[in-house]
Amino acid sequence: MTDDRPRQLARTPPMGWNSWNAFSCDVTEADIRAAADALVDTGLREAGYEYVVVDDCWMASETDSDGRLQPSADFPNGMAALADYVHDRDLKFGLYSSAGSHTCQGYPASLGRERLHAEQFAAWGVDYLKYDNCGDHAGREAVDRYAAMGEALASVDRDIVYSICEWGENAPWEWGRNVGGHLWRATDDLVAKWRANPDEFGLGIADVIDRMAAIDAAAAHGPGGWNDPDMLQIGNGPDSGQSEHEAVDVQRPLTKAERRSHFAFWCLLAAPLMIGADLTSLSTFDRELLTNERLLAIDQDSLGIQGTPDRRGDDAEVWSKRLRDGGAVAFHNRGDAEREISTHVSAVGVPAGADRYRVCDCWTGTEWETGGSLAMTVEPRDTAIVRVTPG
Ligand code: GAL
Repeated sequence: MTDDRPRQLARTPPMGWNSWNAFSCDVTEADIRAAADALVDTGLREAGYEYVVVDDCWMASETDSDGRLQPSADFPNGMAALADYVHDRDLKFGLYSSAGSHTCQGYPASLGRERLHAEQFAAWGVDYLKYDNCGDHAGREAVDRYAAMGEALASVDRDIVYSICEWGENAPWEWGRNVGGHLWRATDDLVAKWRANPDEFGLGIADVIDRMAAIDAAAAHGPGGWNDPDMLQIGNGPDSGQSEHEAVDVQRPLTKAERRSHFAFWCLLAAPLMIGADLTSLSTFDRELLTNERLLAIDQDSLGIQGTPDRRGDDAEVWSKRLRDGGAVAFHNRGDAEREISTHVSAVGVPAGADRYRVCDCWTGTEWETGGSLAMTVEPRDTAIVRVTPG
């Protein structure tokens, strides 16, 4: 292999599905097969969702005598057969481990056995590794532990996307690329709520948006290396695996406005889009949201620029993202009443100086022209998002 081979991966933010938010530690081989089938049947694969990732709890509680990971009894046909099943559907297969002695749920993990495990992953046909931060760290710094797996993955004869899950604790946007990472979690776990209680597990959607505005990591973000605000909670609620497992006080599913804001912001941030819902019971609204071509084009724009806030601090927020042929502008209402939010192309991340701009509402597809002024009426907690193209 050549040294730059891993950099050819993840040129746009990875898209796929991960088992954790829906199934938590109860995940089985049958769930993964059903998710792969559902990605095909629902049209999500056609829309670009390609990775099927098994999160924590796939492994047996003991390694073999050489320290190799072994699948649990819930994966009776083993990981190579499951990878084949996923590959046969033109999808890619991902697994999970941790840069410590154990995973977050107490299963054996990879610290000190990186090469051995990377060789197992490659032999099984793994295309994506999510690498968590739990277990005993043997006194080693995060950069050192994550570099060890990065080197191991680079040494095997297979392209494996390396997803660093260090929760943003040691500013992974500053070193994620250098240790071979293709994406790195910038925040704590996202839960299926608009806001989390400060004393409970995880962060809500609005909490993560606030955190992404605060950390100033956009400069590190781009083709081959992405800030990750965590997996999507669209389609999840009180009964989802993560909500129950982490005892999150989720009283109700996210409203449609909250789900639109969640998806609009993840696309504006050019975030990795890992669906976290049970795909066998996805609603029509959620399927249409997740396959909105105008939103996905913003997320997957080839420049790979992360959207940033232009105006915050009151209940009317404006965020924007430069795109190859113009820009995307989001108008977000944090308040309790409908309101009009306005701005001008000269105040946001759209190339200025054109006489006319074409504007397209990404929810409705409605198009119009402007000399530069932009104004949208937005429901509480909702987000209007437009694509603005000069000329
Ligand atoms: C957390 C991680 C979650 C999930 C969980 C599994 O540390 O942030 O996304 O992977 O562990 O135990």
